[in-house]
Amino acid sequence: MLLWIILIAVLALVMLYLFWGPISAAMGLGALKEFTREELSEYDGRKRKEVYLGCKGFVFDVSKSQSYRPGSNYNIFAGKDATVGLAKMSLDPTDLETSDTSRLKESEVACLDQWFKQFKEHYKYPVVGVIADSRKGA
Ligand code: HEM
Repeated sequence: MLLWIILIAVLALVMLYLFWGPISAAMGLGALKEFTREELSEYDGRKRKEVYLGCKGFVFDVSKSQSYRPGSNYNIFAGKDATVGLAKMSLDPTDLETSDTSRLKESEVACLDQWFKQFKEHYKYPVVGVIADSRKGA
């Protein structure tokens, strides 16, 4: 009996080891790709057809929205870390040059949190990665 239990446990561990990749991906536990600003800039809808946008340290795939496509109103955010721009409700390109949220006002942090929630819960944009070096501050 004990031998059977050990055998089953060993089998279960082997299966878990072999299938951990697909299991963790299905559960959303897989390691997320880290994007440098340069890598992220590829995803502006021109260089690549996918459109990605950085917000609070995460990279969202916003391809399903027309708003960020080349020629659309918010294409300025495409392939960029939009964190500071979104927080300040700003379309100024200089606000897209930094991921530093330490100088944001309380109201701007609240605004950013709203955008983040909106992206996740309302638009349901898939998270495809994290922004390199911004996980601590964002
Ligand atoms: C008077 C000023 C503004 C008006 C009337 C306005 C209106 C709109 C409207 C109607 C949409 C949905 C349709 C579309 O995508 O074109 C939209 C989306 C959006 N707006 Fe504005 N907007 C204004 C200013 C701003 C500013 C200053 C920002 C800067 C952060 C901003 C950020 C966005 C973003 C990021 C979306 C796309 C949301 C998504 O589809 O993921 N808007 N806006």
